This record gives sequence, structure tokens and C-alpha cells, in this order.
Amino acid sequence: GAHPPPGPDPDTSPRLVNDAAHPYRAPGPNDIRGPCPGLNTLASHGYLNRSGIATPQEIVNAVQKGFNMGNDLAVFVAWGAFLVDGNHLTNLMSIGEKSSATGIDPPPPAIVGGLNTHKVFEGDASTTRGDFYFGDNHSFNETLFDQLVNTSNVYGGGYYDAAAAAEVRWNRILDSKARNPTFDFTSPRYVTAYAESVFPFRFFVDGRNQSGALDLITARGFYQRSQFPTGFYRRNGSFGFNEIGPDVDALAEAHPIAPGHNEGVGNYVLNPEDPGLSNGLCFLYTKHINTTLTSLYPNPQGPLREALKENAATFYTAMGDSSCPQVFPFGR
Ligand code: HEM
Ligand code: MG
Repeated sequence: GAHPPPGPDPDTSPRLVNDAAHPYRAPGPNDIRGPCPGLNTLASHGYLNRSGIATPQEIVNAVQKGFNMGNDLAVFVAWGAFLVDGNHLTNLMSIGEKSSATGIDPPPPAIVGGLNTHKVFEGDASTTRGDFYFGDNHSFNETLFDQLVNTSNVYGGGYYDAAAAAEVRWNRILDSKARNPTFDFTSPRYVTAYAESVFPFRFFVDGRNQSGALDLITARGFYQRSQFPTGFYRRNGSFGFNEIGPDVDALAEAHPIAPGHNEGVGNYVLNPEDPGLSNGLCFLYTKHINTTLTSLYPNPQGPLREALKENAATFYTAMGDSSCPQVFPFGR
């Protein structure tokens, strides 16, 4: 097709990424940042366009170069978001709020709203961002970060490590369950919530340090200021599906909860059709294409339809599960 995904970074060594060619600059008034501290940081250091508008190819290259994210995971996440939040004709996406800089919108009900768009990819019980229901799903939230600090002090000896991450993740779920009447914890959010709890102790720790423990000053720099520490080295070796699987399972097993949603505060109703983390990503993939994407694009025509087909196929291939049937809602 016209817009294939990039391949892996051949160099996965730990090396200086906060270098002279990528200085931190605070975002200007027209620069967009959003709910992802990883992408925000890459934009504020010029690994992504500092405007916060990027192609999915640029996003994959940036997460590989800046953080050593594995190619399979990078393409899967970048396309998972782009499918529902990006502009398929211009190939541009906002890493935060909706922007006219992504070009002319396709007809509604398509949203093309950037990563801030609630429900289609962004979801509830985030670590340092509030639930959409409470009014802001994308800005750094000091109250939530303070909870991460307190929990990391108790469970991680002053660090956000795997043990602390399991408790922070669970507390965020319990909080949304108790207070958010619209809490939704089904795929893809079920899966991404655990993954995003792993990312900080695998990607935000300097590559010369093998501890898997993130100090809380560095954590604040990424989460709040979108900034690499001085002299920061990216991790040693790429981190993709094979590496994240055990980490995600450990977090989920520490405090098991099945996929579900609230019907009123505290009334968590299970979604038994959703396998959550078991059965790989096939359910997530199939729902994302057959339900979410088709609800945004019920009857696309011409080049838009062709671009949707191609991007849906890229997402399928990135999943890497040939036992999962590919679906073709827009034709083959
Ligand atoms: C959260 C997108 C890569 C770290 C998010 C969210 C989105 C997103 C939409 C918000 C979800 C939510 O919490 O409701 C992406 C995309 C990526 C990417 C499209 C492309 C590959 C990365 C990388 C890192 C990272 C490479 C780390 C280096 C995080 C963290 C959160 C997050 C820690 C949770 C923030 C919080 O809950 O406070 N990402 N992300 N992401 N992302 Fe990314
Ligand atoms: Mg969220």
C-alpha cells in the first residue's frame, strides 16, 4: 500500500537520547500535548514534530528511536490509535486535542479527534489523568500523581517498580469503580490500562540502570513536564509484545478484576464476552475494527475506504496472530 509501517530500529543499544540534537523545549501556545507522557516527551524533544501533529509512521520511528519500543508493539499501538483518532486521507493525527492541522474531516460520525478522544482509544482509570466523566482526561493531575508517589513509597521503597505499579493500577480501578458512573473497563481499555502501567518502569528508567525501578523525580519529569532527565539513555534492548506479556500478567494477577463497566457508581457489571488479557489480542482487534471503526465509518467511499482498509490491515498484521481471523468490514 501507499503508507506501510516502518520496520524495526536495527540499533537497540542503550544510548543518549536527551542529546544536543533533541533539546527540551516547552510547548508553544499552538503546540499540542495530550494524555500520553511518552509521546508528549518525544514531541517536546523534537523526536516528533513539536506541534504534536504526526503520522503513525513518525510515531513508530520516534518511540523506537527515543525509547526502544519494539516494532510489533509500536505499530500495534500507533495504528490502534490512528485508526480511530487520525485522518486517514492526510495520514495525520493529533497527540492531544482535535486540531484543524490534521486536514479536512471526513463526514460524521467520524471524529478524527486526536488522542484525547474519549472511549475509542483513551479510557478510564488512567494513572495521572482523570476520567473523562470528571471533566479532563488528558492533563497532568497533581492529586493522582501524589497518589502514585505515596503508593510507590509504601510498596516500592520510594520507586515506581512492578510492585508499586500493581497497587497504583488497582487503586485507580477501585477509584473509577467507586466514583465514575460511566466507568468502562473493557477492551481495548482493559488491555491498555495494564500496558500503560508497565511502560513507566520499562521505558522511563535510564538504560544504564537495570533495576526496573523508576525514581519519583524522573517520573514527574515525564508525566508532568514531558521531559527526559539530563543525560538520559534509552532502555537497553527493544521492549515489545514478548517482553510486555509477563509484566502485564503480573499486574493483573496481583489484583484480578474481569472486564466490565459501571451501571451507576459502584455497580460494576461484567462483560463476559470480553476475554481481557487471555486469548491474546484477537478480541481487542476484532472489536476495534468491526465495532468501533465501523461505527465511525459506516459507509466510507473512494480513497477514504481504501485508506481504512489499508490501515486496518496494518493493525491486523502488527497483532501477529495468524490464528485470529482477519475481518474485512470495508471489503478486501
Ligand atoms: C497513555 C497513546 C507510546 C507511555 C497513553 C494514552 C494514549 C497513548 C492514547 C492515554 C490512554 C489513557 O490513559 O486513557 C500512545 C501511542 C503510542 C504510545 C499511540 C505509540 C506507540 C507510548 C510510549 C510510552 C508511553 C513509547 C513510554 C515511553 C504512556 C503512559 C501512559 C500512556 C505511561 C499512561 C499515562 C497515565 O495514565 O497517566 N498513551 N502511546 N506511551 N502512555 Fe502512551
Ligand atoms: Mg484516560
